[in-house]
Amino acid sequence: MKILVTGGAGYIGSHTVLALIEAGHEPIVVDNFCNSSEKSLKAVSRLAGKDVPCYRVDIRDREGLEKVFAEHTFDACIHFAGLKCVPESTRLPLKYYENNLAGSLTLFGVMAEHHCKNIIFSSSATVYGDPAIIPITEACPKGVTTNAYGETKSMLERILTDIQKADPEWNVVLLRYFNPIGAHRSGEIGEQPNGIPNNLMPYVTQVAVGKRECLSVYGNDYDTHDGTGVRDYIHVCDLADGHVKALSAIQKGCGTVVYNLGTGTGYSVLDVVKAFEKATGVSVPYAVRERRAGDIATCYSDPTKAERELGWKAKYNLEDMCRDAWRWQKNHPNGFDD
Ligand code: NAD
Ligand code: WQD
Repeated sequence: MKILVTGGAGYIGSHTVLALIEAGHEPIVVDNFCNSSEKSLKAVSRLAGKDVPCYRVDIRDREGLEKVFAEHTFDACIHFAGLKCVPESTRLPLKYYENNLAGSLTLFGVMAEHHCKNIIFSSSATVYGDPAIIPITEACPKGVTTNAYGETKSMLERILTDIQKADPEWNVVLLRYFNPIGAHRSGEIGEQPNGIPNNLMPYVTQVAVGKRECLSVYGNDYDTHDGTGVRDYIHVCDLADGHVKALSAIQKGCGTVVYNLGTGTGYSVLDVVKAFEKATGVSVPYAVRERRAGDIATCYSDPTKAERELGWKAKYNLEDMCRDAWRWQKNHPNGFDD
């Protein structure tokens, strides 16, 4: 299939573009590079042995998108483009609503105009808020989001659902990712956070490589097996494969459908530190600090719907994720800049 990949130069997008090429699809990337580098797509091209066509276009730029659609007939769009920094979204909500909502509305409008009505959307477990049931199935009610970023995901899910309800020619796959970590096994593509990482794994790898002194563990008094927060970490390559498998739902004509993409296993912060040390032989000094505002104790998925309906199941375990995250960090201490 010929697939428009918005945000395809980013962390999850670049791994998915590679997986799409390997599965025989033809991805075309649109990215404004506000949080990524053209070098990620060069690395994907090297790994795939094939050029990745890419347009430097902002999804809020209708004319720019029109030009891309004039040159290609897309079978589907995988929509990654968006801002994703939770604390920044609390400081700058307008920036997030403008980029993520206005950008997506422009994209959906241009897609409809060009009769491309198949979309896979990057949603997030954040839409469950503090989840009503654990493990979280797709039937779990959406919760109260605690930040503007999470609200854009929740709203975009609703907007796409409404669009599909009004025009059944649309097929909408809402993929709720749990906590993506790791990197391609080559160590040539991975996550490149700007400044101080907010997320656990990039902070761990930066401590391990000597860029930061000590990991802050945000709270050890949660109601979990060791008191630290529990999450469902998923290897980014498993996530990428989930997008390739989700195309089959679109091909069958799925209407609107939601899938959790997680492993189904929850690990605490200290489990992650231990697994990282075991997988890499590098120690990670840490200190316990106050809880981080907005954090919940436990979040992990029941991923069986994706297995049953898409034939997708995560293959990599936590040690694989740590080993691959470390290989990328070690090979590229400054991301794509070296
Ligand atoms: P990322 O920042 O690495 O990738 C997003 C890409 O979108 C970047 O290349 C950025 O330059 C591009 N982009 C942003 N705004 C744009 C715009 N207006 N026009 C064109 N391009 C634009 O992030 P990621 O981790 O790869 O996440 C991809 C998607 O998955 C995002 O929508 C994110 O919200 C969602 N998601 C991520 C996580 C996570 O933990 N990484 C979890 C759940 C959902
Ligand atoms: C994981 C655990 C922290 C950093 C966020 C977004 C979510 C989604 C994924 C996009 C928690 C603890 C973390 C650190 C720590 N993104 N931690 N020290 O918060 O589950 O999810 O990313 O959709 O929307 O909220 O991920 O990696 O930040 O935290 O102790 O330096 O690690 O408290 O228990 P989170 P995370």
